[in-house]
Amino acid sequence: MSRNEHRPIYILIGPPGSGKGSLAQRCRHYDGIHTVSTGDLCRSHIYSQTEIGKEIDFSIKSGKLVCDETIVRMVHDWLDKNLWLTSGVILDGFPRSYAQAQELDRIFRQLQCPAYLRIVELKIQDEQVIRRLTGRRICGNTDCQAIYTYEDASLAPERHDVCDTCSSRLIQRSDDVYETVLRRLETYHHNVQDILSYYHHRTEFAGYIDADKPIDQVYTSFKQLVQR
Ligand code: AP5
Repeated sequence: MSRNEHRPIYILIGPPGSGKGSLAQRCRHYDGIHTVSTGDLCRSHIYSQTEIGKEIDFSIKSGKLVCDETIVRMVHDWLDKNLWLTSGVILDGFPRSYAQAQELDRIFRQLQCPAYLRIVELKIQDEQVIRRLTGRRICGNTDCQAIYTYEDASLAPERHDVCDTCSSRLIQRSDDVYETVLRRLETYHHNVQDILSYYHHRTEFAGYIDADKPIDQVYTSFKQLVQR
């Protein structure tokens, strides 16, 4: 793709555990779409024990949002470095507030990004999210990060706590304990109407997906929605 050609930026808006990361991994696997997860960017700072990592560790463990300034800088730097090299990007977990949505528009103007947005909402009941997240395991190998859940036999690893893809140990995220999941859901519900009101009236809003369906169906619905 040439530097000036416009590429799609897909924004996934959905509660924790709605399957944003799993859907993004499918799109990367089947369609070669790049993905950037702000949660993964945060966790890699924590693993590498950078100054930012030390600052945000507490927020993540306690189910709070990391401050806008830090997150916006991460997204800006990622897009600045990588957007030109891609044919499209999924933004998983950003923006998460009205202020972040405004900042994203500002980043596009500033970088003069040749991009257009497609915004998709993932809907799912809280009870389902709680079941999924308390049963979630992720690959401990940060280059792999495959996602599993013991709550759905088709998404469980073949061997207990061992990654099917790279054979590394699976781990439980520190924010996937019950009380923290509740706090993350509360934060999401607190912010989501604001962010949807920012996007709903815009032509870039593609629609919503029932995220409670099996992952293959979620992926098919996503493709249909964004290709309309
Ligand atoms: P982040 O890592 O982005 O967490 P999240 O948004 O809470 O989302 P999750 O990763 O928990 O869930 P997901 O929707 O990706 O679902 P998944 O595919 O894994 O952020 C973590 C933290 O970082 C935040 O709390 C905050 O502190 C900070 N942060 C990040 N972005 C920020 C921002 N913009 N501003 C401020 N702070 C920010 O699936 C979940 C489980 O369900 C898995 O086990 C999976 O196997 C299973 N599953 C998926 N799909 C299906 C299906 N269709 N059927 C059955 N099971 C399924």
